[in-house]
Amino acid sequence: MEIYRIEGGNRLKGEITAQGSKNGALPLISASLLTDEPVYIRNVPRLLDVETLIEVIRGVGAKVKHLKDGTVSVEAGNLNWEITDERASKIRGSITLVGSLLSRVGKVRLPFPGGCHIGSRPVDLHIKGFKALGADVKALGTLIEGKVKKMRGAKIYLDYPSVGATENILLASVFAEGETFIENAAQEPEVVELANFLNSMGGKIEGAGTKCIRVEGVKKLHGTDFTLSPDRVEIGTFMIGAAITGGDITIKPVIFEHIIPLVFKLREIGVNIKVENGKILRVIAKKRPKKFEIRTMPFPGFPTDLQSQMLALATIAEGVSLITETVFENRFMVVPELRKMGAKIRVEGRTAFVEGVAQLIGTEVTATDLRAGAALVLAGLRAEGETIIKKIYHIERGYYNLHEKIRHLGGKIWKETINL
Ligand code: EPZ
Repeated sequence: MEIYRIEGGNRLKGEITAQGSKNGALPLISASLLTDEPVYIRNVPRLLDVETLIEVIRGVGAKVKHLKDGTVSVEAGNLNWEITDERASKIRGSITLVGSLLSRVGKVRLPFPGGCHIGSRPVDLHIKGFKALGADVKALGTLIEGKVKKMRGAKIYLDYPSVGATENILLASVFAEGETFIENAAQEPEVVELANFLNSMGGKIEGAGTKCIRVEGVKKLHGTDFTLSPDRVEIGTFMIGAAITGGDITIKPVIFEHIIPLVFKLREIGVNIKVENGKILRVIAKKRPKKFEIRTMPFPGFPTDLQSQMLALATIAEGVSLITETVFENRFMVVPELRKMGAKIRVEGRTAFVEGVAQLIGTEVTATDLRAGAALVLAGLRAEGETIIKKIYHIERGYYNLHEKIRHLGGKIWKETINL
């Protein structure tokens, strides 16, 4: 089994380059199936989730190549509509293949998508959108299947601003006859990225990033050459890494608008953050962070994907911090692991009450999901003594070479294989 071994107590110092966005890359890879012309996506991170999705689309006939410096090329000639690769059930990111294959082929069948067990992860809003567009899509427990003769534009209201449902409806409506309106749409940067990508292929999408998106159906999409934005969650994770270790790090490139909630929250608790022309960020943490309150919300609220990492920071802050998770129903799985390190956390319903302690103690812990695993790395970097993190495959799904980046910043972390 692969583990991370961490020796705590070193401040992170130095400069790192942010990876391309994992949650941005996945829908773009799905979208590249919408044309038979070559598509180039630059700055794609070599992550487990991305590699899995690439294997899955290869399985339906797409020709995918890894070119130099993180560029991926996709040529989707004749596509099969049935995905039999069981790995599709390992990642949530395969869910957007429904929208793409319905648009491109008119039929789809795939294993029910997986992803972190941070909640039930239903797809009812996706299906509501497909049905409104005239497609017959069913979630049959272990499978999702659907078919459509011709998509017709529709007005769709999302009961919850679901990121995946918004992305899937964009992919399903891009060739629909007439106009489609998505009301109460997700405003996450990854939705904007997908709309920009589709527009670069000849799509006609307006309003991405606002609550209402308008899609005018087009006949065809052509190839494109598109550069992915930096990963706002990886950037946020390193910002919190500087805060928890009392470090001084510079991260580039960043898109300031993507990380505003975290910048303001960290400044509030005494972390010094400098921004250079919106692209370079310097995070300097000299003193123990003060207590804080956060409530995760859909964008532009505080991102749920940074909640576990902030929980780790709260364990050593002054006073009692409150962290409320409103997006997913089971995203406090890191709490028992942090308690093993001496954290004082009480969870009542959707709120964690965290009484800051002077020091965490290194010990053996287990990653339960991607961002919980990242939180344990941060806690280990701060803790006294040695921390061993098991099941690091969760972490490597979303962070490319995390341990090497941390070592580059002076953190003492090794990736090792042990026989359990
Ligand atoms: C995306 O998941 C991200 N994953 C998640 O990142 C992120 O946490 C989430 O958006 C919210 O920002 C990818 O992009 C691959 P949602 P997604 O649909 O699309 C409920 C990470 O750590 N819901 O916005 O699955 C759902 O249960 C991952 O990188 C329905 O009820 O998120 C949840 O409570 C974790 N019905 C809430 O909406 C639906 O049909 C938000 O889910 C769909 C969602």
